[in-house]
Amino acid sequence: MEWFEDDTFWADFAGALFAPERLREARAWVATSPLLDLPPGTTVLDLGCGPGTYAVPLAERGARVTGVDLSGAMLDRAREAAQAAGLTVRLVRADMREFVEPHRYDEVVSMYTSFGYFADPAQNQLVLRNAWRSLVPGGRLLMDLFSKEIFARWAGTPKVVEVDGGSLFMRDTILDDWTRFRSDWTLVRGGTARHGFFEQFVYSAAEIRSMLAAAGFTDIVCFGGFAGEPYDNNAKRLVVQATRPREAEAGRP
Ligand SMILES: C[S@@+](CC[C@H](N)C(=O)[O-])C[C@H]1O[C@@H](n2cnc3c(N)ncnc32)[C@H](O)[C@@H]1O
Repeated sequence: MEWFEDDTFWADFAGALFAPERLREARAWVATSPLLDLPPGTTVLDLGCGPGTYAVPLAERGARVTGVDLSGAMLDRAREAAQAAGLTVRLVRADMREFVEPHRYDEVVSMYTSFGYFADPAQNQLVLRNAWRSLVPGGRLLMDLFSKEIFARWAGTPKVVEVDGGSLFMRDTILDDWTRFRSDWTLVRGGTARHGFFEQFVYSAAEIRSMLAAAGFTDIVCFGGFAGEPYDNNAKRLVVQATRPREAEAGRP
């Protein structure tokens, strides 16, 4: 089994990945970000939706959201969050390498580095192509990533954070000449230790641009955060917006 297929990884480390302050921050960005300012009725596909971090706030603001995730545990949480808010979110258990609904979505979102999980680069590229195919012509993709440039500022420095009544120890190792990284996490709580790890690609802005262009996207713009700030030395995230061109713009009949 690949690390990302292990439901217990997402559930056991949910306290760190989906902490209440992160969920509040995501809700605030959905309300204020110019990049997430979607008219009511917009059809949105959230690839790797997790516990509905963005899917639920987007639905709250009138989007018609489909959340796709491989983890049943995460989809259960998303379902509960939607129900608690009295909202309808369509939730689908599927692998992002396989999920395609051609010409169905105005917007595809991929949030909190839910990209680059597959050891074979062609499979990560396939996810972008699937997103392109699921978009209507003129539709847009928004990706939120922890990029290579941002990673380089602090990789290698082990970290400890207090989370969920315990302590989480995190250590990162760069792999394959800065192509990928491995993060080892140990959550110590109540006299027990839970170890987990993940390995994924870490992309520079230039690498993501090339991959998006190869998938058929145009108008690729990089931002340093959800406020739409520039992707410069102060960037906290790499937020990329890209468009599936209308057929005529792409020079097709
Ligand atoms: C880092 S979490 C981010 C979740 C959410 N986007 C957020 O902002 O909180 C990544 C999510 O991707 C899901 N995932 C991992 N591999 C996947 C795959 N092959 N297909 C679909 N979802 C996957 C995980 O189950 C997890 O919920």
